[in-house]
Formats: sequence, structure tokens, C-alpha cells
Amino acid sequence: MEQQKRYGHFDDQHREYVITDPQTPWPWINYLGNEDFFSLISNTAGGYSFYKDAKFRRITRYRYNNVPMDNGGRYFYIKDGDTVWNPGWKPCKTPLDFYECRHGMSYTRITGRKDGVEASVLFFVPLKKWCEVQKLTLKNESSAVKKLKLFSFEEWCLWNAATDMENFQRNFSTGEVEIEGSTIYHKTEYRERRNHYAFYHVNAPIQGYDTDRETFVGLYNEFANPDAVMEGKPRNSHAHGWSPIASHYIEVELKPGESKDFVFLLGYIENEQDEKFEAPQVINKKKAHALISELDTTEKVDKAFAELNALWDNLLNIYKVRTGNDKLDRMVNIWNQYQCMVTFNFSRSASFFESGVGRGMGFRDSNQDLVGFVHQIPPRARQRIIDIASTQFPDGGCYHQYQPLTKRGNNDIGGGFNDDPCWLIFGTVAYIKETGDFSILDEMVPFDNQPGSEVTLFEHLKISMDHVIKNLGPHMLPLIGRADWNDCLNLNCFSWDPNESFQTTENVSEGTKAESLMIAGLFVVTGKDYVALCKKTGKDDEAARMQKAVDAMIDAVKKHGWDGEWYLRAYDFYGRKIGSNENDEAKIFIESQGWCTMAEIGAEDGLVAKSLDSCKKYLECEHGMVLNNPAFSKYIYEYGEISSYPEGYKENAGIFCHNNPWVIIGECLAGRGNDAWSHYAKILPSYVEEKYQTLHKVEPYVNCQMVAGKDAFKPGEGKNSWLTGTAAWMWYTVSEFILGIKPDYDGIRIDPCLPETATDYTVQRKFRDADYEITIHPNGAQKGVKKVVLDGSPIEGTVIPYSAGKHVVEVTM
Ligand code: GLC
Ligand code: GLC
Repeated sequence: MEQQKRYGHFDDQHREYVITDPQTPWPWINYLGNEDFFSLISNTAGGYSFYKDAKFRRITRYRYNNVPMDNGGRYFYIKDGDTVWNPGWKPCKTPLDFYECRHGMSYTRITGRKDGVEASVLFFVPLKKWCEVQKLTLKNESSAVKKLKLFSFEEWCLWNAATDMENFQRNFSTGEVEIEGSTIYHKTEYRERRNHYAFYHVNAPIQGYDTDRETFVGLYNEFANPDAVMEGKPRNSHAHGWSPIASHYIEVELKPGESKDFVFLLGYIENEQDEKFEAPQVINKKKAHALISELDTTEKVDKAFAELNALWDNLLNIYKVRTGNDKLDRMVNIWNQYQCMVTFNFSRSASFFESGVGRGMGFRDSNQDLVGFVHQIPPRARQRIIDIASTQFPDGGCYHQYQPLTKRGNNDIGGGFNDDPCWLIFGTVAYIKETGDFSILDEMVPFDNQPGSEVTLFEHLKISMDHVIKNLGPHMLPLIGRADWNDCLNLNCFSWDPNESFQTTENVSEGTKAESLMIAGLFVVTGKDYVALCKKTGKDDEAARMQKAVDAMIDAVKKHGWDGEWYLRAYDFYGRKIGSNENDEAKIFIESQGWCTMAEIGAEDGLVAKSLDSCKKYLECEHGMVLNNPAFSKYIYEYGEISSYPEGYKENAGIFCHNNPWVIIGECLAGRGNDAWSHYAKILPSYVEEKYQTLHKVEPYVNCQMVAGKDAFKPGEGKNSWLTGTAAWMWYTVSEFILGIKPDYDGIRIDPCLPETATDYTVQRKFRDADYEITIHPNGAQKGVKKVVLDGSPIEGTVIPYSAGKHVVEVTM
């Protein structure tokens, strides 16, 4: 085992992760912005900004997979005599006397010290404003007067992040800027169809600037040694085509002990078509001036920052636990909830592993993300459900993804993923249980965004269920279509052509017998929810109709979906078993174990317990549970992408963290608290943080999509951090199934499942207009609530009936 170095630590009091060494094993990033304007920022200030859509409205440029890694971002160069340094160490990499990066809730603060000067930059996006604030504080800690030369730096993206990387024959001729006082405006393509521009401003007089990259950097230099900075002389360049940038130059004099603030603003503006220009060729800057004036002093910026912090105080006050276990509490109270907000905002679009150009909002992804987010800002969750449902087709199928800017289904990816429709029920039910807002079911929602096609949201749910029922295979199990949750199990693809996408190619499907046990389990789980919802809303006939379908599915699974020790995974095109002891490789898969145990199919005959035991026996390893076992060692034409990955990575026997919670919930329902906890702790970031910062490689404060599995070259190495359904599922698992605080239509159901070592804990839960303080006394039990006392009086059953106001609840297990 290689030496596990530490690069940082949690600061729970400030809700921050503190990075103390800039050379982390991979860029450790954070997200700024909560609604329209967003930025990604690494621990060395790398990253980029965009408005709403990382593909269509990219504001600053970023080069993925660069050498060196993570080059490009918002950089401050400080020239102090002959020494040039950056507060975040990069890009100059001048050794610093002190370095610290604090990633907090929607903000990042990076501090560097060199030769008696401290430079600290606070980065955040103020609420409801379309800009990133960079408040730089320079302080002279030496006993001599300091004369510093300060250069700022941003590189503009030509808006469409995809063509920005491709269409150089055009791009090198389109770039345009304007300079006015201390503001540099980026207006490429504004002369034609764009109604938006960006600007980079500082609230101080400048002594020079640059807007042309080549002039500023020098064609044969790098960000680490730009010509203008090295010489200490701005060129006052004006970009015409090529690559426009924005760099301010400021001469700063600091007396001993003196400090000065500079507020830099990266802003985005949209104008009405007929108000675009104030004079021929001159952009209308009215809105930019207004935005700047709202944030042009330290006081105004500090106030905006306080508002952001207050938002997070409120959000994180909705569910708060005190267990006495710091590692659990900090994930539940801070980081897991924070990551859920981020996945809700970005789906799988923009991270340091998702380039922001490939993918929009996923139908299944966003529905799952909702479940981690719905308690935070229910009205936004409501709107999201409507947006997602609007991309459905009249037959219940749907676009697999949609673009956040246009909210239109993405034609390039298409549809045909047969698990997709069920997730709409999953998301909607979670929303109603949290809010009690049944009116969402009557909301009129179109198909494929076509005006005039509207039906109620409830109707969308109904056709979602029916889509499964109408697409059953020879074993009466759901046909898989292009793929189910596992995008890489492509049973109708049959591709020998490396130029075909596994995701969108379906070479044969006519006459297919490819069925999915994962969808079967998902259908039973969401079907039970759907039946309960129908009963709740007085639709008894519909409830009875669906109950029949659910029962039939349960029978089909018991009959054709059980392999003896675990649930099968699927049937292939020809109707042959997948995930069976009869197979040479991939005899067992996690997804069907998760969904069929969550559905409790065959629990009465011991199927659930056997399946869970098999997960422990064949899938579990030190770092979590792998997706399948044994891993595929060769490409299987009939299975598609899953077998394209080397052993132990991604969908081929990687620890695909997203699906571990499914099994954990299965364990919880079965009352096996010790097992549930041990699976959970293995992939809980705070536990990994303590042991494996070097090996894990990616950010230790959030979950990543995939950790290399036991068959991989380096088991335990993490990849694809941040944007993963793992966030919502970890939240759902711990908040509802482990700690056992479950929103329900009429109140909160209390049903914890704990390791026998658990001690008393208290959950503070705001729920609709009520505020519950719930203390659980486990008394060594893993499961089973014996007594619930509400405001001093015992109640029947385990559901605390909802009523507004403050309540104290005591639970004895
Ligand atoms: C990715 C996708 C998700 C899919 C999973 C498994 O995380 O975003 O939609 O379910 O991979 O293939
Ligand atoms: C696949 C990935 C999978 C992802 C899919 C869609 O290559 O393995 O995780 O869901 O692409 O982008």
C-alpha cells in the first residue's frame, strides 16, 4: 500500500474543506452559483463559468485533459520585484510561504503568502445575479513598503463550447472586445444574432490592460510566464479575432500592515433585440453598469456574501442530525446535501469529467437527483418535474436527455431507454410526500414540448407505467430497449463498428427477447408507489388495475428471474440468461439485487436474504460493492459497451457507487442494520477521506461515480467525481432508511435501521410548516420501532401525523 499523504481536512464549523497542499492528486473542485450563473473552480483557481448551459453559453474557456492538468482559469499574477506568484500557486507554481484553499457552500477562498504579502481571493456568485465575484484582498505583512504589479486574467470562450474547440477557421476571425475604463467587454457574435455579452470589471482604476491572448502571453510562452507579466508591462492590446482575453493591470502600493480590497466581477448580460446597441458597433452597457454598481464596494460584496451564507444556513437547517459521530454528521448535515444541490443543478453536464458539451439534463438522472434535493427548495423541484415530463412522448417513452437552455429533448441521443418512464413516478412521489402538494398532478404538461398536446401530469405517470406493461418480453419481464439504468448493457446493439455509439445504436431490436430484471424491480417499487398514490387520490379502479400488473411482475420475477442464489440480471436478445451461475463471466450483477430486494420480491421465501448474502459474498470488497462479478475479460458482441471496459472499471465490475445504496436499502428493509451500515461506511466520503486521500485521488468531500473495483489495476482509485446519482441515493438511504426519517403523505414515518452499536441520536427536521425534534433511542436494536411519543403522548403506529408548529418526538426501538 502506497503512503497515504493528506492534502487537507474538514472544518465542520465553517462547513468547509480545507486544502493545505496545492498539489492534490487531482484538481479538487467546487461549484459556484445556484441558479443561472455557474462556475467550476479548482483548488488552484482553474475552471470556467457559464450561463445556464455549459454547452451553449460558455463564458470562459477551459481545456480539458490539458498538460499540465487544469491549466486555465481566473488567475491573479502578483509581481513583487522579480518574483511573480499566484495566490493559488498555479499557473506560475512559484513556491509559496503559505497556501490554503477553503471550499465552502457555493464559495471558495484561496489564500497565498509570499515574501510578506498575503493575497486572499474569495470567489462566489451572488444570489440572483449573473456574475462571479472575485474579491481579492492584498495585505502587506512585512515591515517595508510594497510596490506590487497586479495582473488579472480570464480567457473568453466564444460561447458555444463545442464549436469553440472545433471550428478554428471561423473562430480565429470572429473575436471582438470593447474596453471602457476598468471594464473589458467580450462581444464576439453580438453584431449578429447573439443578444448577450460578458464583461470583466474591477472596482479600481487600472493602469493598463490586455485583451489579445497572443500579445499578453507570447506565442511560445505559457500561462506560467506570460510576456506582459514577466516584463511587468501590459501591452494595452485590443483583440481582433484570434483569442480574446481580459486582463487588468494595477499598480498597488501597500504600507507595512496595510491591506486593500479589489472587487473583480465576471458578468453576463442579455439585451432586448432592439436595445442591443447604444451607437453603431457599440454595445448597450446600461445593464452592465447597473450590475457593476450593485457590487462595486467591499461592503456591498460582503453583504451579498452574507446573503449566500444565510441561504445555506436555511437549507441545511431542514434536516440536521446529531449522532456524535463526526464522520456521519458532517456528511449528512453538510456535504451530502451540498452535493445533492450540485447534481440537481447540473445533472451530468459539467464537471472535470463531464465536458459540458456532451450531455444535457438526463430524464432518469434528474428524477433521481430530485430525491436528494426536494426537501431543500420544493418549488424548484416542482418546476423540474414539469420540465422533465414535458419531454415525454404520448406513448410514455421519452427523450433520454434535454438541454437546460431550451428545455427541449436532445435529438442526438434520442430515446428508447426503457427504465426512463418509471423514474418520473419516483421523482413525483418524492415531491408530493415532501410537500403534500397533490395539485402538481393536475398540472397540464405537453408531450415533446408541443403546445396543444397537454394532459395532466397524472396522465403522464399513468402512461409511464403503461409503457412498461406494453413492452413486456417472452418471460413477461420488461423489454430493455436501448438499455436500462445501466447505459452500457446494450443488448440490441450488436456493434462491430467502432464509429457507432453504443448509446444510440440499436442495430437489431425487431424480435428481440432482451428483458431486464432491473426494470422489473424498478417497476414493482414505483408501481407500489403509484398504487398508493392512486388510492390516496381516490382512483381506486386505477389502483386495482396497476396492483394486478405489479403482482404479475412479482410472479414473473419469481418464476423467471431467480437464479438460485441471486436474481438474474437480464435475458439477452436470444432469450439467454445474463447474470446467472450458468454464465462464464458476470455471473451476478448488482442492479437486479438492489431493485428486487428493494421491491422485496420473494422475501417470504428467503430470496431477499439470499440475494443480499450473495452481494456480500461476490460483490463486496474493501472499497464497496462492484457492479458485476467476475468481470468481463473480453468484448461480448451481444452485450455491448459493458464488456468494452477493462476489468474493474466503470460498468465492468467497477464500484459504481450509485447502485450501492440500492443494496443498502434492501438491507434496511430486511432489517439488517449491521450490514447496511458496513456497506454505507465503505463509500461514505468522510471515511474514505480519513484513510485514502492519495489512492482515492479525487475530492474526498463528495462521492464519485466510480471507484476502481477489485479486479482493477488499482482498486480504490476514484474517478468521475461530483455529478453522480450517488449523491441523491446516499442521501435518500441515510436520511430515510438508516436514520429512518421518512416523509409520507400524512406525516413522517419513523423507521430506522441501524448497526447494533448505534447510540441515541436526534434529528431536527423541518417538514412543510412543522419543525420536529426527533430523538431515537436504539437500545441496541437494528430495526423495529416499539414506541413513539409525540409531544408527551404516545401515538399509534410509526407515522407522526403532520401538524404545523414545533414538536418533540421520542422514539424507542
Ligand atoms: C451514468 C449515467 C446514468 C447511468 C449510469 C450507469 O452515471 O449518467 O444515467 O444510469 O451511468 O450506466
Ligand atoms: C457510457 C458510460 C456511462 C454513461 C454513458 C452515457 O460510456 O460508461 O456511465 O452513462 O456513457 O453517457
